[in-house]
Amino acid sequence: MSEHDQKLETATRFLETLRRRRSVREFSDRPVSQAVIERLVAAAGSAPSGANKQPWRFVAVRDPAIKRAIREAAEAEERKLYAGRANPEWLEDLAPLGTNAEKPFLEIAPWLVVVFKQTRNTDAGQGGEQVYYVNESVGIAVGMFLAAAQFAGLATLTHTPSPMKFLGPILDRPAHERPFMVIPVGYPAEGSTVPDIRRKPLGAIMRVDRDRSPNEDDPDRPLPSSMPTTADG
Ligand SMILES: Cc1cc2nc3c(=O)[nH]c(=O)nc-3n(C[C@H](O)[C@H](O)[C@H](O)COP(=O)(O)O)c2cc1C
Repeated sequence: MSEHDQKLETATRFLETLRRRRSVREFSDRPVSQAVIERLVAAAGSAPSGANKQPWRFVAVRDPAIKRAIREAAEAEERKLYAGRANPEWLEDLAPLGTNAEKPFLEIAPWLVVVFKQTRNTDAGQGGEQVYYVNESVGIAVGMFLAAAQFAGLATLTHTPSPMKFLGPILDRPAHERPFMVIPVGYPAEGSTVPDIRRKPLGAIMRVDRDRSPNEDDPDRPLPSSMPTTADG
Protein backbone atom coordinates (compact mmCIF):
# COMPACT_ATOMS: atom_id res chain seq x y z
CA MET A 1 0.00 0.00 0.00
CA SER A 2 1.36 3.46 -0.86
CA GLU A 3 2.14 5.91 1.91
CA HIS A 4 -0.79 8.05 0.76
CA ASP A 5 -3.21 5.13 0.92
CA GLN A 6 -1.94 4.22 4.37
CA LYS A 7 -2.48 7.76 5.62
CA LEU A 8 -5.93 7.86 4.07
CA GLU A 9 -6.85 4.58 5.73
CA THR A 10 -5.53 5.64 9.15
CA ALA A 11 -7.28 9.01 8.97
CA THR A 12 -10.50 7.30 7.88
CA ARG A 13 -10.31 4.81 10.75
CA PHE A 14 -9.80 7.62 13.28
CA LEU A 15 -12.68 9.54 11.71
CA GLU A 16 -14.92 6.48 12.10
CA THR A 17 -13.97 6.19 15.77
CA LEU A 18 -14.68 9.86 16.44
CA ARG A 19 -17.96 9.72 14.56
CA ARG A 20 -19.26 7.09 16.93
CA ARG A 21 -18.93 9.57 19.82
CA ARG A 22 -22.23 10.92 21.01
CA SER A 23 -23.15 12.89 24.10
CA VAL A 24 -24.55 10.37 26.55
CA ARG A 25 -27.02 11.60 29.17
CA GLU A 26 -27.98 8.27 30.75
CA PHE A 27 -25.03 6.56 32.39
CA SER A 28 -24.57 3.15 34.03
CA ASP A 29 -22.78 2.98 37.39
CA ARG A 30 -20.28 0.46 35.97
CA PRO A 31 -16.89 1.43 37.39
CA VAL A 32 -13.92 2.78 35.47
CA SER A 33 -10.48 2.56 37.07
CA GLN A 34 -8.60 5.66 38.12
CA ALA A 35 -5.67 4.46 36.00
CA VAL A 36 -7.83 4.81 32.86
CA ILE A 37 -8.98 8.29 33.87
CA GLU A 38 -5.33 9.25 34.44
CA ARG A 39 -4.52 8.29 30.82
CA LEU A 40 -7.40 10.42 29.53
CA VAL A 41 -6.26 13.42 31.56
CA ALA A 42 -2.66 12.88 30.43
CA ALA A 43 -3.93 12.82 26.82
CA ALA A 44 -5.69 16.15 27.46
CA GLY A 45 -2.52 17.48 29.08
CA SER A 46 -0.59 16.78 25.88
CA ALA A 47 -2.59 19.52 24.13
CA PRO A 48 -0.91 22.62 22.71
CA SER A 49 -1.48 25.82 24.68
CA GLY A 50 -0.69 29.52 24.39
CA ALA A 51 3.03 29.94 25.29
CA ASN A 52 2.88 26.41 26.75
CA LYS A 53 1.17 27.68 29.92
CA GLN A 54 -1.09 24.61 30.09
CA PRO A 55 -3.79 26.68 31.79
CA TRP A 56 -5.99 23.80 32.90
CA ARG A 57 -6.79 21.73 35.94
CA PHE A 58 -8.72 18.46 35.74
CA VAL A 59 -10.43 17.43 38.99
CA ALA A 60 -11.55 13.80 38.76
CA VAL A 61 -14.42 13.21 41.18
CA ARG A 62 -15.57 9.76 42.24
CA ASP A 63 -16.67 10.45 45.88
CA PRO A 64 -20.49 9.94 46.01
CA ALA A 65 -20.95 12.80 48.51
CA ILE A 66 -19.12 15.27 46.25
CA LYS A 67 -21.00 14.02 43.18
CA ARG A 68 -24.28 14.53 45.06
CA ALA A 69 -23.29 18.09 46.04
CA ILE A 70 -22.44 18.84 42.39
CA ARG A 71 -25.74 17.37 41.20
CA GLU A 72 -27.78 19.37 43.72
CA ALA A 73 -26.07 22.67 42.87
CA ALA A 74 -26.20 22.01 39.11
CA GLU A 75 -29.91 21.14 39.20
CA ALA A 76 -30.68 24.30 41.19
CA GLU A 77 -29.02 26.40 38.45
CA GLU A 78 -30.56 24.39 35.62
CA ARG A 79 -34.05 24.78 37.09
CA LYS A 80 -33.60 28.54 36.86
CA LEU A 81 -32.27 28.17 33.31
CA TYR A 82 -35.26 26.18 32.09
CA ALA A 83 -37.70 28.40 34.04
CA GLY A 84 -36.69 31.52 32.14
CA ARG A 85 -33.00 32.37 32.38
CA ALA A 86 -32.53 30.89 28.90
CA ASN A 87 -34.16 32.95 26.16
CA PRO A 88 -36.88 31.36 23.98
CA GLU A 89 -34.50 30.63 21.12
CA TRP A 90 -32.10 28.80 23.48
CA LEU A 91 -34.97 26.68 24.84
CA GLU A 92 -36.13 25.98 21.27
CA ASP A 93 -32.60 24.85 20.31
CA LEU A 94 -32.49 22.55 23.35
CA ALA A 95 -35.91 20.97 22.66
CA PRO A 96 -34.73 18.34 20.12
CA LEU A 97 -32.16 17.14 22.68
CA GLY A 98 -34.88 16.36 25.22
CA THR A 99 -32.81 17.77 28.09
CA ASN A 100 -34.31 19.17 31.29
CA ALA A 101 -33.17 20.31 34.74
CA GLU A 102 -32.84 16.77 36.11
CA LYS A 103 -29.24 15.57 36.01
CA PRO A 104 -29.12 12.09 37.62
CA PHE A 105 -26.03 11.24 35.57
CA LEU A 106 -24.05 13.58 37.83
CA GLU A 107 -24.44 10.98 40.58
CA ILE A 108 -24.61 7.79 38.53
CA ALA A 109 -21.56 8.14 36.25
CA PRO A 110 -18.50 6.63 37.99
CA TRP A 111 -16.42 9.76 37.37
CA LEU A 112 -17.08 13.46 36.89
CA VAL A 113 -14.03 15.12 35.42
CA VAL A 114 -14.42 18.80 36.23
CA VAL A 115 -12.26 21.01 34.02
CA PHE A 116 -11.07 24.40 35.29
CA LYS A 117 -9.31 27.08 33.28
CA GLN A 118 -6.54 29.00 34.97
CA THR A 119 -6.75 32.77 34.60
CA ARG A 120 -3.29 33.18 36.15
CA ASN A 121 -0.35 30.82 36.10
CA THR A 122 0.74 29.83 39.59
CA ASP A 123 2.35 26.52 38.67
CA ALA A 124 6.10 26.28 39.14
CA GLY A 125 8.25 25.93 36.04
CA GLN A 126 5.79 27.61 33.67
CA GLY A 127 7.17 31.16 33.70
CA GLY A 128 5.31 34.25 34.89
CA GLU A 129 1.69 34.65 35.91
CA GLN A 130 0.32 35.70 32.52
CA VAL A 131 -1.65 33.19 30.49
CA TYR A 132 -2.59 33.35 26.82
CA TYR A 133 -5.46 32.07 24.67
CA VAL A 134 -6.90 30.28 27.67
CA ASN A 135 -10.30 29.37 26.18
CA GLU A 136 -8.73 28.09 22.97
CA SER A 137 -6.12 26.07 24.89
CA VAL A 138 -8.58 24.49 27.32
CA GLY A 139 -11.05 23.81 24.52
CA ILE A 140 -8.39 21.89 22.59
CA ALA A 141 -7.43 19.94 25.73
CA VAL A 142 -11.07 19.00 26.35
CA GLY A 143 -11.37 17.88 22.72
CA MET A 144 -8.37 15.62 23.15
CA PHE A 145 -9.83 14.26 26.39
CA LEU A 146 -13.10 13.42 24.62
CA ALA A 147 -11.23 11.77 21.73
CA ALA A 148 -9.12 9.70 24.15
CA ALA A 149 -12.25 8.59 26.04
CA GLN A 150 -13.95 7.62 22.78
CA PHE A 151 -10.85 5.70 21.69
CA ALA A 152 -10.93 3.85 25.04
CA GLY A 153 -14.59 2.89 24.49
CA LEU A 154 -15.95 5.23 27.17
CA ALA A 155 -18.94 7.54 27.00
CA THR A 156 -18.82 11.23 27.90
CA LEU A 157 -21.00 14.29 28.10
CA THR A 158 -19.80 17.89 27.83
CA HIS A 159 -21.96 19.39 30.55
CA THR A 160 -22.02 23.14 31.26
CA PRO A 161 -24.47 23.95 34.06
CA SER A 162 -25.08 27.64 33.74
CA PRO A 163 -23.66 29.43 35.68
CA MET A 164 -21.22 26.97 37.27
CA LYS A 165 -19.47 29.11 39.87
CA PHE A 166 -20.57 26.61 42.55
CA LEU A 167 -17.91 24.14 41.39
CA GLY A 168 -14.95 26.10 42.79
CA PRO A 169 -16.12 26.06 46.44
CA ILE A 170 -17.35 22.45 46.27
CA LEU A 171 -13.98 21.31 44.93
CA ASP A 172 -11.87 23.72 46.96
CA ARG A 173 -10.30 25.40 43.95
CA PRO A 174 -8.62 28.80 44.20
CA ALA A 175 -10.45 31.84 42.77
CA HIS A 176 -8.19 32.14 39.71
CA GLU A 177 -9.32 28.71 38.54
CA ARG A 178 -12.68 29.11 36.78
CA PRO A 179 -14.98 26.19 35.98
CA PHE A 180 -14.98 25.35 32.28
CA MET A 181 -16.92 22.10 31.94
CA VAL A 182 -18.15 19.01 33.77
CA ILE A 183 -17.46 15.76 31.92
CA PRO A 184 -19.20 12.64 33.24
CA VAL A 185 -17.21 9.60 32.08
CA GLY A 186 -18.34 5.98 32.07
CA TYR A 187 -20.61 3.65 30.13
CA PRO A 188 -24.06 4.35 28.68
CA ALA A 189 -26.97 2.89 30.67
CA GLU A 190 -28.39 -0.22 29.08
CA GLY A 191 -31.05 0.72 26.55
CA SER A 192 -30.14 4.41 26.62
CA THR A 193 -30.72 6.37 23.43
CA VAL A 194 -29.34 9.57 21.93
CA PRO A 195 -31.21 12.30 20.03
CA ASP A 196 -31.54 11.82 16.27
CA ILE A 197 -29.43 14.72 15.07
CA ARG A 198 -27.16 15.19 12.07
CA ARG A 199 -23.79 16.72 11.35
CA LYS A 200 -23.31 19.20 8.55
CA PRO A 201 -21.78 17.44 5.53
CA LEU A 202 -18.13 18.12 4.71
CA GLY A 203 -19.10 20.25 1.71
CA ALA A 204 -20.88 22.65 4.08
CA ILE A 205 -18.04 23.06 6.59
CA MET A 206 -14.98 23.06 4.31
CA ARG A 207 -13.72 25.41 1.63
CA VAL A 208 -10.48 25.04 -0.36
CA ASP A 209 -8.43 28.18 -0.96
CA ARG A 210 -11.15 30.83 -1.21
CA ASP A 211 -14.59 29.52 -1.97
CA ARG A 212 -14.08 26.20 -3.70
CA SER A 213 -15.90 23.14 -2.47
CA PRO A 214 -13.55 20.24 -1.64
CA ASN A 215 -14.58 18.17 -4.71
CA GLU A 216 -15.18 21.02 -7.12
CA ASP A 217 -12.63 19.67 -9.62
CA ASP A 218 -14.25 16.25 -9.53
CA PRO A 219 -17.84 16.46 -8.27
CA ASP A 220 -18.18 12.68 -8.61
CA ARG A 221 -15.39 12.08 -6.08
CA PRO A 222 -17.19 11.04 -2.91
CA LEU A 223 -16.43 13.06 0.21
CA PRO A 224 -16.51 11.53 3.69
CA SER A 225 -20.23 11.02 4.21
CA SER A 226 -22.58 12.37 6.85
CA MET A 227 -22.95 11.17 10.44
CA PRO A 228 -24.35 8.00 11.89
CA THR A 229 -26.63 8.69 14.85
CA THR A 230 -26.06 5.88 17.32
CA ALA A 231 -23.66 5.91 20.22
CA ASP A 232 -21.64 2.79 20.86
CA GLY A 233 -19.95 4.18 23.93
C1 LIG B 1 -19.52 23.70 25.04
C2 LIG B 1 -20.62 22.69 25.10
C3 LIG B 1 -21.55 22.75 26.12
C4 LIG B 1 -22.56 21.79 26.22
N1 LIG B 1 -23.39 21.80 27.29
C5 LIG B 1 -24.27 20.80 27.46
C6 LIG B 1 -25.05 20.71 28.64
O1 LIG B 1 -24.92 21.52 29.56
N2 LIG B 1 -25.94 19.69 28.77
C7 LIG B 1 -26.10 18.75 27.79
O2 LIG B 1 -26.92 17.84 27.96
N3 LIG B 1 -25.34 18.79 26.64
C8 LIG B 1 -24.44 19.77 26.48
N4 LIG B 1 -23.64 19.80 25.35
C9 LIG B 1 -23.75 18.71 24.37
C10 LIG B 1 -24.36 19.16 23.05
O3 LIG B 1 -25.76 19.30 23.18
C11 LIG B 1 -24.02 18.08 21.99
O4 LIG B 1 -22.63 18.02 21.84
C12 LIG B 1 -24.65 18.37 20.64
O5 LIG B 1 -26.05 18.33 20.73
C13 LIG B 1 -24.18 17.37 19.59
O6 LIG B 1 -24.51 16.05 20.01
P1 LIG B 1 -23.42 14.92 20.17
O7 LIG B 1 -22.39 15.41 21.15
O8 LIG B 1 -24.19 13.71 20.68
O9 LIG B 1 -22.81 14.64 18.83
C14 LIG B 1 -22.65 20.77 25.24
C15 LIG B 1 -21.70 20.72 24.20
C16 LIG B 1 -20.69 21.66 24.15
C17 LIG B 1 -19.64 21.53 23.06
